[in-house]
Amino acid sequence: MNYLIFWPLCMPKLTICNWKMNGSIQLIDSFISIAAHLPNDTACWNLVIAMPDIFLAYAASKEPRFRLAAQDCSTYSGFGAHTGEISADMLVDIGIRYVILGHSERRSHGDGAEAELIHVKLANATRCGLIAILCVSDDYESQITKQTESLLQVYHDKIILAYEPVSAIGTGCLPSAADIRETAVRLQQRYKIPRVIYGGSVTSTNALDILRVDEISGVLVGGASLKIDEVSAILRIQELM
Ligand code: 13P
Repeated sequence: MNYLIFWPLCMPKLTICNWKMNGSIQLIDSFISIAAHLPNDTACWNLVIAMPDIFLAYAASKEPRFRLAAQDCSTYSGFGAHTGEISADMLVDIGIRYVILGHSERRSHGDGAEAELIHVKLANATRCGLIAILCVSDDYESQITKQTESLLQVYHDKIILAYEPVSAIGTGCLPSAADIRETAVRLQQRYKIPRVIYGGSVTSTNALDILRVDEISGVLVGGASLKIDEVSAILRIQELM
């Protein structure tokens, strides 16, 4: 069976909320009300919330059904004398399942050295059993090193590629569904990775067009993910897929 074609079609689509440097105990508490209104546990599992590390343990303790993500992790692994760092191992220790890596808002130079650091983070995350959401933009060829390419092949079931064109982040200017599909197919074929999601100005208004692209396994939502109504509406659309 060609898993590249069939796996994404049979896996449920994901809505991944990236709260960026936003959120509060109050916002977490109000999101818990979403869980109460979801039709079933499965719908809840298809929602992932990436919040600042400081809130993760609280959210995990309040709603165990939520899939939580960190927005980055350290290049250091395990535990040790690295002030201010949070390792993939520590995230796993508090029950976190996902980590976003290589988000364009965390890439400062986009040079080879940075791609190397992201590779190390990806290696740490996958070794610990985290599911890594690796963000790439249109210049993905320079963002994915040869080494990273090998990791993608070994951990193809543990890594989700998030196609996030920088020009679409926070601008309201999205590529067309056809363009998103074309890039998703290119990424799947080039890196043999089944799950590609799209991020950049996703809202409840355009989510249907994006989620109905077969090759897209979900959406990574920034600004709109801070609004409960928006997230509920996107989840309802996702349920239709
Ligand atoms: P916006 O949805 O606000 O454009 O942000 C996208 C993003 O960066 C998600 O990671």
